[in-house]
Amino acid sequence: MNQKPLCILGIETSCDETAAAIYTSDKGVLSNVLFSQIDMHKAFGGVVPEIASRSHLEKIQGIISEALDKAEVTLKAVDVIAVTNKPGLPGSLLVGVCFAKAIAWAQEKEIIGINHLEAHIFSSCIDNKVPFPHLCIAASGGHTSLYLVKDFGVYECIGHTRDDAAGEAFDKVAKMLGLPYPGGPVIEKLAAEVNFQDFFSYPRPKKLTLDLSFSGLKTAVLYDLIARNAYDLKTKKLLNESPELKQQVASSLLVCVRDMLSTIIERAVKTYPEIQAITFVGGVACNKYLRQSLEATATKYQKPFFAPAPKYCGDNGAMIAFVGHYKAQRQEFSDLFLDILH
Ligand code: KG4
Ligand code: ZN
Repeated sequence: MNQKPLCILGIETSCDETAAAIYTSDKGVLSNVLFSQIDMHKAFGGVVPEIASRSHLEKIQGIISEALDKAEVTLKAVDVIAVTNKPGLPGSLLVGVCFAKAIAWAQEKEIIGINHLEAHIFSSCIDNKVPFPHLCIAASGGHTSLYLVKDFGVYECIGHTRDDAAGEAFDKVAKMLGLPYPGGPVIEKLAAEVNFQDFFSYPRPKKLTLDLSFSGLKTAVLYDLIARNAYDLKTKKLLNESPELKQQVASSLLVCVRDMLSTIIERAVKTYPEIQAITFVGGVACNKYLRQSLEATATKYQKPFFAPAPKYCGDNGAMIAFVGHYKAQRQEFSDLFLDILH
């Protein structure tokens, strides 16, 4: 297809990251700028919606200007504005969508509403030529799902968590252990210190479906800590502050999550033999141990494995601009009535 090169401005404000990026047909990602609110939410152990939307409002203009400057692109040169409009925190989504609509109207640009989950699914394709159909494991703080991905924009959810997301398991166990938010990176660090050993053999789900469940794992960790007289349920406080215990819990948790994700890949590959590759995306895919372990599972089934660069795993503007690009090529534009869906 010989199409005119397009320049896309991607805007992402669905949760606690204010992000913008420039993607062009001929040069790919030219800039990917992000302000993370993590430090603002740390004291609360999770994202506070009101704080999130106010911070987006303060930051969005500066982040977009920085994305344009870094890419050495003027707003005039942008063809399309791609903005996350679902799913996410309503107040946060509104900031991005209203800002994008204002620019689109004032500068007479096309606008495209982007599904945040679709953007995560195709984030593995930003830097890689991933064959279709492939299996995508998308694991973040809010979602954990399996997709059969047939083409750009064409995918089917074939399994999902019935309760908590994988990242939530890391975040909630970290909270139990008195560790900072987000839990994933610190759990990975502690687990590495004890060489990813499985000390406590938390139970693995036995159901033979393509669905997942992480809430039982969180409860298993809690009950195990209580049985060890290491946690007080009434005060919700850790009673044993020993660094060894934290390392052992972190490591056993990570190994258990690895086993659950690895088992689900094996089941999916057997159920859908047409799968040509396996991708691992979302914030949890920053985890090097999980990346390596799941790659080993994929290799066992002779499937190539792709995980995006860490800068494209967590929420970012590049993945929004990337999806905006293939939608723009297909003329799948929204209009100024674009609204949020949460
Ligand atoms: O995709 P993301 O940045 O935001 C959304 O939830 O959409 O994902 C954040 C989640 C958090 O739960 C965090 O604990 C987890 O990703 N995470 C990790 C790691 N880095 C971030 N989980 C495991 N290991 C990591 N290194
Ligand atoms: Zn996300």
